[in-house]
Amino acid sequence: MKQVLSGLPLIDTLEISDDALAEIALILEMRCNFSISIYKDKCMKRRIAIRMRSCRCLDPAAYCNLLRQNTQELELLKKTLTIHVSQFFRNPSMFEKLQTTIFPFLFQKAEADRTPLKICSLGCAGGEEAHSLGIILREHFAKELLRTPVEIRAFDIDADILQAAIQAEYNEDRLKDLPDSLRARYFSPSGSRLKLSPDIRELVTFHQRNIMDADTFEPCQLALCRNTLIYFTRPDQEKILRGISHILPTGGILVLGKSETLVGEVRRLFSTVCPVERIYRKL
Ligand SMILES: C[S@@+](CC[C@H](N)C(=O)[O-])C[C@H]1O[C@@H](n2cnc3c(N)ncnc32)[C@H](O)[C@@H]1O
Repeated sequence: MKQVLSGLPLIDTLEISDDALAEIALILEMRCNFSISIYKDKCMKRRIAIRMRSCRCLDPAAYCNLLRQNTQELELLKKTLTIHVSQFFRNPSMFEKLQTTIFPFLFQKAEADRTPLKICSLGCAGGEEAHSLGIILREHFAKELLRTPVEIRAFDIDADILQAAIQAEYNEDRLKDLPDSLRARYFSPSGSRLKLSPDIRELVTFHQRNIMDADTFEPCQLALCRNTLIYFTRPDQEKILRGISHILPTGGILVLGKSETLVGEVRRLFSTVCPVERIYRKL
């Protein structure tokens, strides 16, 4: 059944046939060397339908033609299909910077102020980022954890991915940047997957929230919003960044993804701690 929203029919997943999906998969493989074969067909069809609707191209054959001719649309489709992609210690140099510079500073301040250390991961996908922070804390800040309570709160809009995050069972590819010693210490086999140990999981809580409402989230001293802003329009990026600045105190730290930056008025509210790792301090 079709519904109508803003004058455009909503495409349901049934309207993209298996043949059309196979054709789109082939175009993605040939032109981007990107395989969607590991993902569920139903999920892929739903996301392709989102793109088709966005570019007002409602016929799968016409959409295939568009993909063949328009590299920008090809890139946008790829982004839409990979939106949950994450990894433990994604961009390892950023996690190293957190470990060597940012966490010592934040613990010192939290101890001096006698406050818990609160951390937010916004757009957390399957929890890889939030759990990586937990691993750093257990590995390098065991003494500090005894003195200062730490809460890592992770937010995503997608209920399914949050269930996966709570489950904390990962495929091998999510762990490719994780040193063997850490993998051995914090993961155990669960069928063909790897299950994260409870001492890391207990540091993180997951919440279904829209980061467009970030200004209503609980305050924190460290906010990570990586590889998520890229999916938003410029005005919405500004709104999200304003929201995050609202929940950070003076001296609070914001980390963005490698291809993201501060935009709009909010730039005046932060100083740059590390331009390479996109780390900023609230003024
Ligand atoms: C590519 S993942 C980024 C994961 C992680 N931050 C990283 O850098 O590896 C983007 C995540 O943002 C989530 N997301 C998209 N729009 C959102 C919104 N409005 N509110 C909360 N999460 C959102 C998606 O569901 C997805 O899990």
